Amino acid sequence: MNLILLGPPGAGKGTQAKRLEEALGLLQISTGDMLRAEVKAATPVGLEARAIMERGDLVPDGMITAMLASRVSQPDAAKGFILDGFPRTVPQAEALDAMLAEKGIPLDHVIELNVDDAALVDRIAGRFTCASCGAGYHDSFKQPRVAGVCDSCGGTELTRRADDKAETVAARLAAYHRQTSPLLPFYGAQGKLSAVDGMADMDVVFAALSKVIKP
Ligand code: AP5
Ligand code: MG
Ligand code: ZN
Repeated sequence: MNLILLGPPGAGKGTQAKRLEEALGLLQISTGDMLRAEVKAATPVGLEARAIMERGDLVPDGMITAMLASRVSQPDAAKGFILDGFPRTVPQAEALDAMLAEKGIPLDHVIELNVDDAALVDRIAGRFTCASCGAGYHDSFKQPRVAGVCDSCGGTELTRRADDKAETVAARLAAYHRQTSPLLPFYGAQGKLSAVDGMADMDVVFAALSKVIKP
């Protein structure tokens, strides 16, 4: 089973990809997480991507497509994957189609998480993440059981993203509407697109996704 989760910043792609990973044994492939790891390690890709990400713009298609191609080729992707944050432009989607066709890998579902723009800013502004295991939290919607301690791994380094400032969120949303939303008709024309209400409670969203995948 190979899936794409599509949706604007803060729609819940990462949250739901992690749940699907646990429930179905699929691999979450988040291009945002991969880029943040490159930035942290100060690799050549990270050095180029850093300023672009902090502005809320998209990194060049060639850079991200190469990164994705090498990740999808690794053995742990053979069990099935959830693409979270890729593709984000029509050229990326075309490159993905070509890459999957060449490797004989099917794409089963593309699922859009629908969320109002107004809700996204609140979601993103309150978000924080465990630096050790990547578990996600939120000031209003999902506090850890013990303040400052990760529920999943007991880690105590809880961090906020550099691009989660209000002005950058506006730029990320604009990039979504301008560059990523054309993927909806692109995958609609392939008959692969479903939509799920991303405004609902996290458990309700997860149930709706599960129903699309296993009707
Ligand atoms: P990326 O890391 O992909 O960020 P994004 O798309 O902006 O999405 P987010 O990670 O902010 O949101 P999400 O949908 O994962 O939501 P989450 O589950 O965290 O990309 C970052 C940057 O990298 C880009 O701006 C770009 O520069 C670059 N990049 C990455 N991929 C690229 C590509 N392919 N091409 C070019 N550039 C690329 O949820 C958000 C919050 O809401 C959390 O706190 C969560 O707890 C809460 N929440 C989730 N679901 C619910 C719910 N149902 N109810 C209430 N709260 C909820
Ligand atoms: Mg994410
Ligand atoms: Zn943790």
